[in-house]
Amino acid sequence: MTKAGLFLTFEGIDGSGKSSQARMLAEHLRGLGYDVVLTREPGGSAGAEEIRSLVLEGDPDRWSAETEILLFTAARRDHLERTIRPALAEGKVVICDRFADSTRMYQGLSRGDLRGLVDQLHDLMIGREPDMTVLIDMDPETGLSRAKGRQGTEERFEDFGLDLQQQMRAGFLALADEYSDRFRVVDGNRDMDSVAQDVTDIVLQALR
Ligand code: TYD
Repeated sequence: MTKAGLFLTFEGIDGSGKSSQARMLAEHLRGLGYDVVLTREPGGSAGAEEIRSLVLEGDPDRWSAETEILLFTAARRDHLERTIRPALAEGKVVICDRFADSTRMYQGLSRGDLRGLVDQLHDLMIGREPDMTVLIDMDPETGLSRAKGRQGTEERFEDFGLDLQQQMRAGFLALADEYSDRFRVVDGNRDMDSVAQDVTDIVLQALR
């Protein structure tokens, strides 16, 4: 087991199955004796979970694009301070469902080109990238129908529709190229167990 801990994130469009994959990986690693913290964004600490409802519920135009970036970044800062950093310092494996790459995509692309602002704020306030990011790549139409099938109240981004999903998918693939040292792309258009097998192989290789 690594002493310094390992910080793993899952990314992908809505309905890509990344949350299930993160959960399955956490269970698998725990079964092998690893000390695992499974967490998510926005959220993952008490304060950040409160911000989560502010950014994911209500009118899609509730916040300006800039305010929204600040809220997601504030939630991340709290999550990093209270959950992620302490766990890594204890040598744990932290598995996080979404992280800064989601802000680079959703807030950086969906309401105009704000990627520069997202990155500036990230450098100023977060300054930490994951050790490894697993991108579950998924056909946008399938992803959207899965996400809409869940019928929750947290649907601000899913409501933007297929165009946004397509833009996000292409954006995530471009991001995987940009940060090719830490990204691993897994084909999510298969049954869950096959996807999970690939994810496990990739992560165990990194842990060894
Ligand atoms: P998530 O919890 O992954 O949704 P689900 O479990 O339903 O797939 O993410 C919720 C939404 O938050 C998702 O539509 C993407 C959005 N989001 C951002 O816009 N920016 C961010 O920085 C993060 C972390 C999430």
